[in-house]
Amino acid sequence: MTGSAPKHFLDLHTHGSADLRAILDLAAEYKRGAVMAEKRRPLEGRTLAMIFEKPSTRTRVSFEVGAKQLGGDVVILDGNGSQLGRGETIADTARVLSRYCDMIMIRTDDPAKLEEMARHATVPVINGLTDDSHPCQIMADVMTFEEHKGPIAGKVVCWSGDGNNVAASWIEAAAQFGFEMRVACPENREPDARVVQWAREKGATVVIDRDPKKLADGADCVVTDTWVSMHEDGANLHNIFRPYQVNGALMAKAKADALFMHCLPAHREEEVTTEVIDGPRSVVWDEAENRLHAQKGILVWCLTQS
Ligand code: CP
Ligand code: NVA
Repeated sequence: MTGSAPKHFLDLHTHGSADLRAILDLAAEYKRGAVMAEKRRPLEGRTLAMIFEKPSTRTRVSFEVGAKQLGGDVVILDGNGSQLGRGETIADTARVLSRYCDMIMIRTDDPAKLEEMARHATVPVINGLTDDSHPCQIMADVMTFEEHKGPIAGKVVCWSGDGNNVAASWIEAAAQFGFEMRVACPENREPDARVVQWAREKGATVVIDRDPKKLADGADCVVTDTWVSMHEDGANLHNIFRPYQVNGALMAKAKADALFMHCLPAHREEEVTTEVIDGPRSVVWDEAENRLHAQKGILVWCLTQS
């Protein structure tokens, strides 16, 4: 890409809500297969580079399959198998990859690395998860919610568990899409205060409390995630999170038709019981599928000059 500045997809707070809605509309269009012939292979002749400094199943496969279905190609680097693992800087890697590739997706630990990549790349950079956020996941989650329940604006989503990277992106989504976000979590496991403040300043209702049953009361959706994220040391975390398990008793507090969501991978009988994740209110497989469609929306949006 030359000329105009690249359109990165870095976090849900870095975009206007109209852009996020446009990405969801594109995702739905690709899912329905309703795209015009000239939009069917917009990545023809283009290559997506993906850097994984942490493991992945869904993000890796959905981006690779999505890019290929759009006519593009992919190249995958892992931290240790590339010169990044031997100390080549992110900035230099960004400059070099920009000469070969048309887009870069990076899954890494420190969000500063994502920002460095975006500063030095001359092609769009996409956040495939950092210790602090997971915006691609929440695009797929909002898409999934709306497929089942209609517009998410004005609805109530209750998180029970760790106030982690996925919770942070849910909170940002609450501000962007206009729903109420309630986060039940233990002391010292609260979501990043800067994220909560940003969402509240944008007008979102964000409730943080210790009591999952109180927060799940009347919710349209209950969400959780692993108790031990990839960047965490798991020692002692299981005891802290036990009261936040999503089980039948917690789901009974939510609306009778409330959804259960989880970004996966899941740990049955830890953060969620088998009964709930394999039960009729769980939409976790739709969520996983929608990663594919949402990635297409993100890829095409990044490449479309507005
Ligand atoms: N939900 C998600 O990002 O899964 P992976 O870690 O498998 O990519
Ligand atoms: N919070 C989890 C999400 C995995 C997709 C982690 O960061 O490991």
